[in-house]
Amino acid sequence: MSLNFRTVPLVESGLGKISILSDVCNQLNIKKPLIITDQGLFKLGFVKEIEKSLSIKNISPCVYNSVKADPPESNIFEAVNLFQNHKADGVIGFGGGSSMDVAKAVSYFSINNVNIKECYGVNNLKYDRCPLIQIPTTAGTGSEVTPIAIFTLENEQKMGIVDPLLYADCAILDAELTIGLPQNITAYSGIDAMVHAIEAYTTKIKKNPISDALARKALALLGANIKEAVNNPENKKARESMLLGSMLAGMAFANAPCAAVHALAYPIGAKFHVPHGLSNSLVLPEVLKFNSKNVSNLYCEIASDCLPDLEGKKNDIDNFIAGIEQLIIDLKIPRKLKDVGINQKDIQMLAADALKQQRLLINNPREVNLQDVISIYEASY
Ligand SMILES: [Fe+2]
Repeated sequence: MSLNFRTVPLVESGLGKISILSDVCNQLNIKKPLIITDQGLFKLGFVKEIEKSLSIKNISPCVYNSVKADPPESNIFEAVNLFQNHKADGVIGFGGGSSMDVAKAVSYFSINNVNIKECYGVNNLKYDRCPLIQIPTTAGTGSEVTPIAIFTLENEQKMGIVDPLLYADCAILDAELTIGLPQNITAYSGIDAMVHAIEAYTTKIKKNPISDALARKALALLGANIKEAVNNPENKKARESMLLGSMLAGMAFANAPCAAVHALAYPIGAKFHVPHGLSNSLVLPEVLKFNSKNVSNLYCEIASDCLPDLEGKKNDIDNFIAGIEQLIIDLKIPRKLKDVGINQKDIQMLAADALKQQRLLINNPREVNLQDVISIYEASY
């Protein structure tokens, strides 16, 4: 078997690990980092604490705190300006997927004068980047260990820059940073992480044994802890398991890419500003039903990892899909497209956009055409 697998060279994980950030900066020779985050997180005060702790160690950070959800390209350009004015020498992504994706792009565009339009797609980065540290504060995207950065263009389409250069130098996982996450965000991002692992395990082209092992361990951690993390947000052990699980899922799908769930979720996020994990959750059951014609065996292999309640029960595809639907209900996640303000007449437009996500759809275990996409959205309506 021929396989190719990459991930970040250094992961630092544990409660309170944020305290080693200055050491990691020193290892990477970063003296003037640009910290990239969003307003909501900035207001919580974590960033001020980080700035203070770095300053004590003679490291002079500056902060870009205006990352938007589904980040537009303007976030990159504004942060690059700040990087250059500050004469920064490294980038720290601090937040959810949006902040970490912007951080990836800034680590490249801050030192290379290249047209971003030429960089979308796979393997289109030709030069070097500056040092990059990623610190997730949600447990979901796995962006801290992926080489993928997704942006929303002015035409409301989501485009990705995918290149091994975007793997960070270090990911720091500190579950203390996730304790304050609201219940709905914990649920949405937890489902996103589960979808990463499910899609990695069933991906058509680059399925590989390393990603398989990571996906199964990820699902075991996520499946066993998602309800607890939502219902008892202060449970540090559950939070730690969710953060670790989402990272493992990120490592898996970075090498065995996502497919139709993400392709159908992206237009929902881009057009209706529905959070990414919720967008995934809305189409997940119907995509599973559609794909089960080809990969019900693979779904059955991971069924009791995803859903510990299925342990010892009949291992069949119907139980798996019903179990996922029940999990979404238990997590109090909106279930249908109409519940998030989408009209039936929007489905054609969503389907046309989803079909443009060929980067993802080519990985789907069952071929998907326009009529299939429409049918999946209709059934999810
Ligand atoms: Fe995702």
